[in-house]
Amino acid sequence: MIINGPNLNLLGKREPEVYGATSFEEYFSHLQMTFRDVQLAYFQSNIEGELIDKIQEVGFSYDGIILNAAAYTHTSVGIGDAVKAITTPVVEVHISNTFKREDFRHISYISAAAKGVILGFGLKSYELAVQSFLDG
Ligand code: DQA
Repeated sequence: MIINGPNLNLLGKREPEVYGATSFEEYFSHLQMTFRDVQLAYFQSNIEGELIDKIQEVGFSYDGIILNAAAYTHTSVGIGDAVKAITTPVVEVHISNTFKREDFRHISYISAAAKGVILGFGLKSYELAVQSFLDG
């Protein structure tokens, strides 16, 4: 399950110099074609509580969660606690290299509870995250 947080519904339109020119829907089709044997699902919300609800809903039964909590990464104790509460492993991803950016983006409430973190490879970060689950 891929879970994307706030403003990632605007991928392709939003700051293309940082996040690229491809929408997530287009990229998701590419991912499905790349990993034909993997059952991928995708959820996006701009609302913190909806992200927590989705993490709880899938977090005891799915094989893996790829989570880009976007701006909530840097602010949300609630999402960090949800990741700690579940049993499904979570790989945290970011499109941009958050460590090259403003200081407030250097903090993550998710990383400590994540299986690993992949960031800075553009949308390919998601592909690397799927591959990391397949590699075990
Ligand atoms: C982001 C990085 C965050 O700092 C930012 O708020 C986002 C996207 C990324 O994928 O690079 O919305 O998570």
